Order: sequence, then C-alpha cells, then structure tokens
Amino acid sequence: MSDFPAQADVLIIGAGAAGLMCAAVAGKRGRSVLVLDHANKVGKKILMSGGGRCNFTNLYTAPDNFYSENPHFCKSALARYTQWDFIALVEKHGIPYHEKTLGQLFCDNKSRDIVDLLLAECREAKAQIRTRCEIQRIEPLEGEGEGEGEGERKGFEVHTSLGKVVCESLVIACGGLSIPTMGATGFGYDVARQFGHHIIPTRAALVPFTLNKRALKRQADLPGTSLAVTASCGEGSFHEQMLFTHKGLSGPAVLQISSHWREGESVVFDLAPGMDLCNWLSEQKAQKPESHLHTALAELWSRKLVQFFLQLNGLESKPLKQYHESALREVAEKLQTWTLTPEGTEGYRTAEVTLGGVDTNEISSRSMESQKQPGLYFIGEVLDVTGWLGGFNFQWAWASAHAAGAEV
Ligand code: FDA
Repeated sequence: MSDFPAQADVLIIGAGAAGLMCAAVAGKRGRSVLVLDHANKVGKKILMSGGGRCNFTNLYTAPDNFYSENPHFCKSALARYTQWDFIALVEKHGIPYHEKTLGQLFCDNKSRDIVDLLLAECREAKAQIRTRCEIQRIEPLEGEGEGEGEGERKGFEVHTSLGKVVCESLVIACGGLSIPTMGATGFGYDVARQFGHHIIPTRAALVPFTLNKRALKRQADLPGTSLAVTASCGEGSFHEQMLFTHKGLSGPAVLQISSHWREGESVVFDLAPGMDLCNWLSEQKAQKPESHLHTALAELWSRKLVQFFLQLNGLESKPLKQYHESALREVAEKLQTWTLTPEGTEGYRTAEVTLGGVDTNEISSRSMESQKQPGLYFIGEVLDVTGWLGGFNFQWAWASAHAAGAEV
C-alpha cells in the first residue's frame, strides 16, 4: 500500500525556502502538513545561494528594500517576522554565521546548514515532505450546500503523480521563473490564473547585463576585473562592485541596477564614487604637474582599467600641467557619468529572482490568503514582492511563510 497521504489539513506546493518554513510553522500549530515538490531534492536554490554560503537575511531589512506594484503589502509580514526572528532561529540551531558587508548575513560553512535547519524544524512539526511529485490538477471542493454556507468552498482536491490529496488549505510556494534548471516553473502563476488572479508581468532581475559585440571587443582584456562604482538607472542607484565578464557586466552593482533597467534604457556608472574627481585631478596637477593623466589615474584603478577608460572616452594622456581646469572637469565628468546601453540581460537562465508575479492587491497582507479563493495562499517569490540583492529575498520568503503558516 502506498504511504502517500490521501488527506492533509495543509498542502504546500514547493519545498523551497518559503514552503519549508510555512510547513514548520503550520505543523507546530498542530496542523497536519504535506509538502510536495517536483524536484529530486528540497531547497535547491538555498543550496546554491550566496555562492554556496546562503545570504540568509539582512540586518537592515526594511520595506524599502523591496519592489512591488503594491509597496505597502510586504510591511505587515516583515514586521511580524523580522530578520532578528530568523537570526534567533539560526542561533538556536547553532549555525555559525558572519556579516559579509552591508548587513548581509552568510553561513560560515555551507548553505546546507539552512536546509538542515528547515528540515529539522519540519521534522519537529511532523510535516511530511515528498519530492519528485508532479502536480497534475487542482480542483476546489464545494460546500455541502446546507443553509447559509451554501456554495462555500471546502478545500481542494489535488491530483498528483503520487496520488490524490484532499486538503483544507492549499499553499502555493513555487517560487519564480529564475533558473529553470533548478526546478523553476511558472506553475504558481498558472494556479493563480486558474482562480482568477491577475499576474503582474514578470521579468528577470538581479541579473548580469549582456553587451553588443563591439562593446565586448573593447573590453576583451577585462573579464574578471572589478571596481567599485555607483550604477544608476531611473530611480535606482547602487554603490557596490562591478565586474567585467565575457558576456558583459555583472557584480553586485549591476545585479542591483538590473531590477530598475528596461530594454533600451541606459545605465550611468560613476567610476569614482564618492569622490570629487575634478578636484582630485586638480590637486594631482598641482602636486605632480609632470605626471601623465594615466599615471595619476592609476592611483585609482589598475593600469588595464585606466587604459580602457581613456580609450573608451577618446581621452589622450598628457602631462597634467597641459590640462586646463575645464579639460580636467571634462575628464572627470566623462569618468563619473560613463553611460552605457546594455544589449540585454542574461535572462532567467542566471537571474537570481523574478520581478512581478501574483498581484498582491488580491492577497491578504496579514495571512497571504487569496481574496478570490478562500483556503488558497501564496507565499515567497511567486508573489509580486522582490527584494534587493543581499539576503532580502530569503527574508521575504521567511516572513511571508510565517504569516501564512500562522493562519492555514
Ligand atoms: P524557491 O525557488 O526557493 O522554491 C520553489 C520550490 O518550488 C522549488 O523547490 C521548486 O522545485 C518547486 N516547484 C516549482 N515548480 C513546481 C511545480 N510545478 N510542482 C512542484 N514543485 C514546484 N536570496 C537571498 O536572499 N540571498 C541569497 O544569497 C540568494 N542567492 C541566490 C542565488 C541564486 C543563484 C538564485 C537563483 C537565487 C538566490 N536568491 C537569494 C533568491 C532566493 O533563492 C529566492 O528568492 C528564494 O529561494 C525564494 O523562495 P521560494 O520558496 O519562494 O522559492
């Protein structure tokens, strides 16, 4: 006889960050919980996150670190399950961690520690988990039709490759579209549409830029080279590292600004962020008038980069004394407003997250329950809530999962 449960109080589809967290919270309330995932193992994105060390939260998490058509939506869940709550859980499990930069907390050892934490919490909550399970069909169950409750929804019947499950609450925790090879699908959006939800158009975010052939040829010597920049586009501006790649540009500054960028738009890079470069060049001229421009700039960047930036901007390198103040101002301006139009992005193949998703105007911000279908919940990345780079996306997964887990 199959050990596949035919009934559960709570059925969660997706055994990623949000699904496992929700299972633990709901199970500890005494609800019987079943988690199903089509992948061969749970938490694949957690395992590959943060370069294998999982940037599991950010000390400075605040609603401003998230993009959504409905920016107020995330506030309630983030306030009720904070970064400090997740840090306390990490400490309870004795997982060593450190702050890398900008409040980003990483495991000292491996991302596996976070998956093990979630699995231990699920075990304690007696939540059952099944992988390699394809979800075939979801049917809402009607009420008995007696008196007032006539037509009231009474849970769901979910048909899967492992069998049929009847549940009271159904939680969709399928994540977004990024990295299909890790098991990402648009299934969560399909379920949302099935129940009449609107989907905010999705796009790859936290993703490297690609450049055209000409630009790539110009930077052929630079892949692997990085420098601190401020990258700006639209209302976004990020001061972090930028990395030259064989396909274009990457690094935290580029990943961050990609969430603001739209096809055809330009991105402006300040290559000497936080500096008054014009003033600095004037000082260099006063102190070392015989020194060439490229020698002076080599105090800021590697010689390879200096050569690239000078060539790119059609600037010749002469002794500093030969530059009038206006010429130095022009050099500084060119280097502090390097404007570039990416050809595109690497797309969902390498994107860390998906912008857009299930419209949160149709979801309860307290419980994550659908306002269109009682008993149906959406949590994590499938919703139109997308964090900046730096641990914010996991914090959203934990917080939204906790909000739903307390209600399902
Ligand atoms: P998640 O993607 O974790 O889980 C969804 C689950 O649903 C998966 O297990 C999938 O197999 C399953 N599923 C999908 N379709 C299904 C179907 N049809 N049937 C059954 N199951 C299905 N964030 C951060 O805060 N810090 C970081 O360090 C990183 N690093 C990082 C690196 C890389 C390479 C990526 C791709 C992403 C990150 N992120 C990150 C983002 C973070 O991983 C992401 O936001 C969360 O994992 C989202 O959690 P969810 O539970 O919503 O989805």
